[in-house]
Amino acid sequence: MMSAFESVFGAQPQAVAQAPGRVNLLGEHTDYNDGFVLPIAIPQQTTVAMRANGTGSFRLHAAELGSTVSFKLGQPPAEHFASYVYGCLVLGQAEGAAIAPLDIHVASEVPMGVGLSSSAALEVATLRCLRQLLDMRLDDVQIARLAQRAEIEFAGVRCGIMDQMASSLADTRLALLLDTRTLVRRFVALPPGSTVLVLDSGISRSLASSGYNERRAECEQAAQLIGVPSLRDVQTLGDLQQLPDRLMRRARHVITENERVLRAVDCGDAAAFGHLMNASHQSLRDDYEVSTPGLDLLVDLLQAHPAVFGARLTGAGFGGACVALCRSDAAHEVGREVLSSYSRAGQSGRQLVPPVL
Ligand code: GLA
Repeated sequence: MMSAFESVFGAQPQAVAQAPGRVNLLGEHTDYNDGFVLPIAIPQQTTVAMRANGTGSFRLHAAELGSTVSFKLGQPPAEHFASYVYGCLVLGQAEGAAIAPLDIHVASEVPMGVGLSSSAALEVATLRCLRQLLDMRLDDVQIARLAQRAEIEFAGVRCGIMDQMASSLADTRLALLLDTRTLVRRFVALPPGSTVLVLDSGISRSLASSGYNERRAECEQAAQLIGVPSLRDVQTLGDLQQLPDRLMRRARHVITENERVLRAVDCGDAAAFGHLMNASHQSLRDDYEVSTPGLDLLVDLLQAHPAVFGARLTGAGFGGACVALCRSDAAHEVGREVLSSYSRAGQSGRQLVPPVL
C-alpha cells in the first residue's frame, strides 16, 4: 500500500518517527517557575517522515491541514505550523548536523489547540526523525530541550519544559513526576481503580499565547520583588505579603500547586488525588485567572458526577480541555452523561482521549 508520504512526494521516506501528546494531571503553570508537574502521555501520536529531496528547498506537507509549504533554512516560513518544524531544523543544524533539503510529511492524531501539546508532539517527532535520518547523538532529554527552544525561539511562546519532556519521555500508563528545575523524574502509578478522562470544552483558546506570556512575566516580577531566583524558592505563603494583590495571587497559585503535586504522588488514594485536582482548578480560576465560564461549567459537571474523584482545566487554560480522574469502570458513562448535560446548557464538548489510558 502506498504510504501517505509516497502519495504526496512520490517516493518512500528514509526515516519515520512518532511522538505523543500529553495531558497534565496536576502542576499547571509551575514549570516556568522551576516547579513540579505530573503529565501522562496520551495514546494519540504525531508522525513525521523525511527524505532528502536533492533540490534547493525544503518541502513540508501537513496532512491534517492539507497544505504544503516550501522554504530554505535562513528564510523562516510564514505559516505558523511550519515554524515548529523549521525551528527544529535550524536547531538541529546548530547541533552540528548537515541538513540538506528534505521532503517532510506530518500527520497527527493529537487534537490541536486544546491543551494536549500537539506542538510539543510535532517538535519531538521532528527531532526524533532527524536523529534517525542523520544518526545524530541526541538523548531524549536533549531532544526535549531543543524542542522547547524551538517553541520559544520560533513559535513565540515562552513555555516551560513540561510538554516537551512529557512528549519525549512519558508513558501512557504511568504519570511522569518531573522536577522542572533539575529534570529529576520518576514514574508514578495512577491511584488504584482510577482512570483519566479528557473532555474538550469546545471553547477555543483565543488568549492562550498572549495571556500565557503575560502570566509568566507576572511570576518573574513576583519572584524579583520577593528576592528569589524563581517562585520555586519561596519558603512560606507569608513571604507573599509584600506583593501587590494580583502578583500575590499568581504566586500563591504556583506555590500551592507545587505542594499539591507533591502531595498527590504520595497519597495513593483516588479520592485524595481528586480533591487536589479540584483545589487546583479553584486556584487556576481564582488566583491565576486562566479559566473561562465554559471551562468552569464543564469542570463543575465533572466534579458533581458520583464516579468522578476530581476534575480541572488542563494545559495553559483560556479554553481547551478538562481532565478528570474517575472510576475506571465508569469512564465511558461519565463522558457521555457529562457531555449531554453540557450540551443541555447550550455548549458543545467532545471526548478527546480514549478513557482507559
Ligand atoms: C503550556 C506550556 C507548558 C506549561 C503549561 C501550563 O502547555 O507549553 O510549558 O507551562 O502550558 O502548565
